[in-house]
Amino acid sequence: MTRTPSPARERVPLPIGIFDSGVGGLTVLRAIAARLPAEQFLYLGDTARLPYGTKSAESVTRYALQAAAHLVERGIKMLVVACNTASAVAMPALAAEFAPLPVVGVVEAGAEAAVRASHSGHIAVLATESTVRGGAYERAIRARRADARVFSQACSLFVALVEEGWTQGPLVEAVAREYLQPLLTEKTRDGLDCLVLGCTHFPLLRKTILQVTGAEVMLVDSGETVARTIAETLEQRQLACVAGARGRHRFLATDDAERFARVGGRFLGAEIALTDVEQVDL
Ligand code: DGL
Repeated sequence: MTRTPSPARERVPLPIGIFDSGVGGLTVLRAIAARLPAEQFLYLGDTARLPYGTKSAESVTRYALQAAAHLVERGIKMLVVACNTASAVAMPALAAEFAPLPVVGVVEAGAEAAVRASHSGHIAVLATESTVRGGAYERAIRARRADARVFSQACSLFVALVEEGWTQGPLVEAVAREYLQPLLTEKTRDGLDCLVLGCTHFPLLRKTILQVTGAEVMLVDSGETVARTIAETLEQRQLACVAGARGRHRFLATDDAERFARVGGRFLGAEIALTDVEQVDL
């Protein structure tokens, strides 16, 4: 495996590599690209193996290492783990395997934003089953605010609903009420005031979630907040692109490219041309 970009590659600014289990990480790409318009991105969606959120930590770590290795081989200057599940379980393995490449995940950024947003210190995290099981958000939040109370809720069905394009309507609201009911009790009883959208699919359910929780609960999108960490890391390492015309972003998918382009557009908030998507085998 080639870990160091070749001299020929260094003459061309390298893209930021970003991966997720599927199209959900495009919500993260959207937020980062809005903050860093001069940067180019190479996105990999491991659609053939989605969901990661119900898999064991061992499987998710193996998948994450394979996805990252593929991006590194193509030449990237930084790796963004745009999947909460992979960030929650595989960050130490990724950082060790690809050092000195900077590796940034969404969990630390989400925890930081939650601690900043919450007055009461009572924070809820909505995530996948694997993310909740590993307790990474709780640890990251408590490392920043020792007296924080963290309430975690796995919302696995949200992923399937969003993949189907169902983000609003009575059925989605009924599922959200079922998942969020215990959280509403915490809100009334203990002043829960901040909710972390700890899964890349959940920002698309923002409106429905707020309908259930009430607008006084602050929603934190870990994708949006990671953009700041990335900007800072690029500056520190002198890797930032200076303003100028950048090329098109490129997309890799481990399953059908046509579906990736069609469904992915909803997550990215912009059309994805089929010619910009390549199907790859990890
Ligand atoms: N990308 C995953 C995450 O952010 C959600 C989808 C999945 O379960 O793979 O946790």
